[in-house]
Amino acid sequence: MRNLLSIDELDRDGLEEMLDLTEHFVEINRRNIPRVPALRGKTVVSLFYEDSTRTRLSFETAAKRLSADTMTFSVGTSSVKKGESLRDTVETITAFGIDAIVVRHQSAGVPLQITRWTDAAVINGGDGWHQHPTQALLDAYTIRDHLGSLHGRTIAIVGDIKHSRVARSDVSAFTALGARVILVAPPTLLPSSVTGWGVEVSHGLDRVLGSLDVCYLLRMQQERMSEALIPSLREYHRGYGLTMERAARLPAGAMILHPGPMNRGVEIQAEVTDLPNCFITEQVSNGVAVRMAVLFRLLGSGTQLDVLREEP
Ligand code: NCD
Repeated sequence: MRNLLSIDELDRDGLEEMLDLTEHFVEINRRNIPRVPALRGKTVVSLFYEDSTRTRLSFETAAKRLSADTMTFSVGTSSVKKGESLRDTVETITAFGIDAIVVRHQSAGVPLQITRWTDAAVINGGDGWHQHPTQALLDAYTIRDHLGSLHGRTIAIVGDIKHSRVARSDVSAFTALGARVILVAPPTLLPSSVTGWGVEVSHGLDRVLGSLDVCYLLRMQQERMSEALIPSLREYHRGYGLTMERAARLPAGAMILHPGPMNRGVEIQAEVTDLPNCFITEQVSNGVAVRMAVLFRLLGSGTQLDVLREEP
């Protein structure tokens, strides 16, 4: 594995292997000093052309916990403002002598494009509506951790599927791991075709609630909508928002997940986030471990796990 551009690069065994590797980093993150020398001397750059809180900070935390050096590129304070192209930016960063670039960009395909301009490993931190592979890994990890396996589980992905790279990556990972996936959204928030996705579709959250093992909520991505696709946010909440009343109709033990950022009162009622079966902050913590696993896999000694042992 040289880069991580799409979750489709990992088949079922590849996914399970990454989730198994993640276990080691979850354990490291619980130590008093959550740091190992695995990537000493390596440099990881975050190149974010789009806003991010969780993904950027967790990649940087992950790199630091592996003892790598980090560099952060902020579009707003860089020479991009002076008209520098993506290619020139990548070639400049590469000239510093770096080992990995984590990239987020509003256009699908940019991470792949970047692989042609650098020798560094390229990790996709989200490209347009296309892919967000580390989100899929952390979501699959969180579900497997609580339910033992995704195999045979019913997972609803609810909301703005059309504009969601998270939905596209999660569908691939969840179905590859044997889950039954139901996309729940009004027709205007679904892609024009989901043929080949291996999913079911429902236009009513109330119809599926009682059969779910996981209820995965998405944000309404209005920054990607060129027209009004729902009558109003209040109307959306009425039909598809996870209210306390709806959460009470989920089977016992069913998990509530969300990639963040949340819009409380739209896709999720504020009080729902305090329920014991809501694992949104745990997703964030697992995100650090998953990204440590990905960086270790791409830049580390691969399967040599000795370096992860706690110092006596
Ligand atoms: C998502 C993203 O940016 O794709 N957030 C994330 O990375 N956790 C989802 C979103 O923006 O709604």
